[in-house]
Amino acid sequence: MSASVITLETKENFSQNLVIQQPPNGISLQGQIRVPGDKSISHRALMLGAIAQGETEIQGLLLGEDPQSTASCFQGMGASISELNTDLVRVQGIGLGNLQEPLDVLNAGNSGTTMRLMLGLLASHPGRFFTVTGDNSLRSRPMSRVVKPLQQMGAEIWGRKGGSLAPLAIQGKSLQPTHYHSPIASAQVKSCVLLAGLLTEGKTTVTEPALSRDHSERMLKAFGAELTTDPETNSVTVTGGNQLYGQKVVVPGDISSAAFWLVAGAIVPGSEISITNVGINPTRTGILEALEMMGADIQKENEREVAGEPVADLRVRHSHLQSCTISGEIIPRLIDEIPILAVAAVFAEGTTVIKDAAELRVKESDRIAVMAQQLNQMGAKVTELDDGMEITGGTPLRGTDVDSYTDHRIAMSLAIAALNAQGETTIHRAEAASISYPDFTNTLAQICG
Ligand code: S3P
Repeated sequence: MSASVITLETKENFSQNLVIQQPPNGISLQGQIRVPGDKSISHRALMLGAIAQGETEIQGLLLGEDPQSTASCFQGMGASISELNTDLVRVQGIGLGNLQEPLDVLNAGNSGTTMRLMLGLLASHPGRFFTVTGDNSLRSRPMSRVVKPLQQMGAEIWGRKGGSLAPLAIQGKSLQPTHYHSPIASAQVKSCVLLAGLLTEGKTTVTEPALSRDHSERMLKAFGAELTTDPETNSVTVTGGNQLYGQKVVVPGDISSAAFWLVAGAIVPGSEISITNVGINPTRTGILEALEMMGADIQKENEREVAGEPVADLRVRHSHLQSCTISGEIIPRLIDEIPILAVAAVFAEGTTVIKDAAELRVKESDRIAVMAQQLNQMGAKVTELDDGMEITGGTPLRGTDVDSYTDHRIAMSLAIAALNAQGETTIHRAEAASISYPDFTNTLAQICG
């Protein structure tokens, strides 16, 4: 069987086209992959390391652009962070409440997690003034979801559209504790309020309508925060004023990155891929449950716990997929994987319905609109819903020109769709993948043989 041809063309403006040429007799994907470190955990390890007392050692950090944004923001406020690498990053923390007033604007780049989590810390540092901004995408994403609860605690934040769009200016203050009932299940909102609560005297509680990823809760506890959870009401409470202490953090592989290979292995005939060291925290494994519902053949092997997070190796083999309906409480547990799940649905028998996922419209791009347009351009049958998509599988895809809209997860999802499309697909602005998966193209070439 001949390999597909994968070429990366760099253009004059440094934007890259990823060209995937399907050979006439098809491909099969084989091999073992180690995915990069979990993005959510990498951000949190850098942030908590920076505000804790003493040294934090981080193994397995994601070297993508997003954690780099977090590192440079906290370096700008006095934390000392060694050069980022996957082996070992050392963070010399400055102790709770000691973030310095930065001499320049803090730039969160493309990273919603950096900006939203950091805002909780900045707003609660009395007497210091901060300005934060981001790239074109981040400056158009809603910040009111974190500004509102922080204002409820007494924070002073200004920005365009009543403080809902970055750039934002923050005058740090002593805040009042609150019980915030978040209208959305969002780990960024929850974590922002909890981080603000660290420096706020008394108990700060967040209740969310469904459980979002709980990496902040796990890591805050490990760093010594006084934190309790109530699973019955999806509530978390932090008691302010307790010092955090530097820890050793081991970052597991990112299940959101593994998801591309899980779907690739499931949809490309004759494939078998093994993905080692993947984080399988139950607040993130919606993708495994959804693919299993669709009839994917995925085995969990070597399950273990590493530094407070569950980890396993995953093996996927090609199988015949069926449509399914994905809605409700599973949505926050697979929110970042919906673009690649849409690709799986294109190759499944029947009509897959994804609902309750309006959050996708305010991610790095409007992921409902962009995925529907780009997959339809390849010949798929995708209908946009206000809060999701309806995807009728079984129509063969044809290679054509598609665009990532500078969204990393769109770039990689389209690349996986291209593996099963006839002829040649060109993914424009494919460099976006480096936000969370800088080595994506090399790994793609590796498993294509
Ligand atoms: C993240 C939370 C999610 C997710 C994002 C990372 C985090 O966002 O989509 O990629 O690390 O807290 P929301 O909290 O907005 O759902």
